[in-house]
Amino acid sequence: MDHFKKQNLPEIDSFTVAILGLGYVGLNLAVTILKKNKLKKNKYISQRKVIGFDKNIKRLNQLKNRFDKNYDINKNDLVILDNIEYTNKFQLIASADIFIITVPTPVDKEYKPDLSYVKDATRQVAKALIVRAQNSRTKIKPVVIFESTVFPGVTEEICIPIIEKESKLLIRNKSFYYGYSPERVNPGDKVNTISNTIKVTSGSNKNIAKWISKFYSSFIKNETYSAHNIKTAEAAKLIENIQRDVNIALINEFVMICSKLGISSYDVLKAASTKWNFLNFKPGLVGGHCIGVDSYYLINKLLEEGYYPKIISIAREVNESMASWIFDRIILELAKVDKLIKDSKILIMGFAFKDNCSDIRNTKIYELVKLIKNQNLKFEIFDPKVNINEVKEKYKLKLLNSLNGNNSYDVVIVLLSHNDFIKMKLKDWKSLIKKDGIFIDFKGFLHPKLNPVRF
Ligand SMILES: NC(=O)c1ccc[n+]([C@@H]2O[C@H](COP(=O)([O-])OP(=O)(O)OC[C@H]3O[C@@H](n4cnc5c(N)ncnc54)[C@H](O)[C@@H]3O)[C@@H](O)[C@H]2O)c1
Repeated sequence: MDHFKKQNLPEIDSFTVAILGLGYVGLNLAVTILKKNKLKKNKYISQRKVIGFDKNIKRLNQLKNRFDKNYDINKNDLVILDNIEYTNKFQLIASADIFIITVPTPVDKEYKPDLSYVKDATRQVAKALIVRAQNSRTKIKPVVIFESTVFPGVTEEICIPIIEKESKLLIRNKSFYYGYSPERVNPGDKVNTISNTIKVTSGSNKNIAKWISKFYSSFIKNETYSAHNIKTAEAAKLIENIQRDVNIALINEFVMICSKLGISSYDVLKAASTKWNFLNFKPGLVGGHCIGVDSYYLINKLLEEGYYPKIISIAREVNESMASWIFDRIILELAKVDKLIKDSKILIMGFAFKDNCSDIRNTKIYELVKLIKNQNLKFEIFDPKVNINEVKEKYKLKLLNSLNGNNSYDVVIVLLSHNDFIKMKLKDWKSLIKKDGIFIDFKGFLHPKLNPVRF
């Protein structure tokens, strides 16, 4: 008998998995798992079944109609969605043997970790486990895997006690198993997919860690990396993102420094990047729900432990101040060319939280827009990647449907390097701006003939 069977663990390539939270991470995971099923006469043979659980009924209905509002799953893959069973009822996930939690882990208004979603999803699993224990004649022991980004200790010290308390199933009695495997999906990135990326895994004991690693290996192309323990895997995810945050903060501060010194950071960075070990980080408005949030998870945990993390905290401060720095620069550049600020019309190019992505959550461009609005300046925003209705709903802003080329703007500020922007021709850019208008190129890709201001 195989080793895992003896432990009554679910079979590796024939299982039912419930995924709780069908956002960027959960939906991607569901599609990746189902793609591994064999296709016969246009139908997938269901050795691997996915039950998709989400609290948002609108999202469930859209997915049932093969519509992903995040525009993240490509058209060919949308057909796979027909093979997911959708529900918002915990009773319906009780038939699963594996439960994976991929719900949001944002911060609240005071930048404190908001664990309410992860706690709620954990409670749903606990309730499903009770139903499962009552109904099921199977000897298979369920496995609960957490994928949401959290600080070290959340899985073992917060979530597992919730399951034990609510379900009365005890991990000590081996009535269920658990693990943590952070997600590294990068929305908009078609190269570094779930399947192509090494997956860090961990489990409540060595055996489960091995099983979880095998489980992921059964549907991703790349390897898995078994972390030393669950807290290590939780912390690994945080440092991956914090490292980016700190590096971008350094470059952002350097942009401000160069501006003070009257030199162009764009030119300096170009020169410096010719050194073989120079890290090519670009300045940016760090938003979204990962890089702009994860540092706070670690900072808060450390403050509870009585330690103030200096570099991480200062990096956050620098990155949070970037929108207001850019605003000051716009005003300064308008003043330099004697433009009346109040009469100037501004075009903001980009609204998503980062390049080539439709995600508008925690976009720091909104911080800049708020400053522009507060001064009653005239502005318009264009971003072909984002869902205009979603922006209207969330931010009460009406984005342009398309660009009008009748030379009406005094200043065009380019904040993202979406491929759609990079592909625009010189004449398209020229058609936007008034004769004496200025381009402010935060991303450094505009044609020199446009005479862009670069910091
Ligand atoms: N998006 C990314 O690039 C990315 C990358 C790596 C890790 N992560 C992490 O993965 C987690 C999920 O992120 P996401 O971007 O997929 O979030 P998301 O906001 O796109 O999706 C989360 C989904 O969970 C649903 N949900 C909320 N509460 C629920 C509950 N109690 N039960 C069931 N469903 C619930 C929401 O309706 C939503 O559909 C977060 O911890 C995030 O930090 C995200």
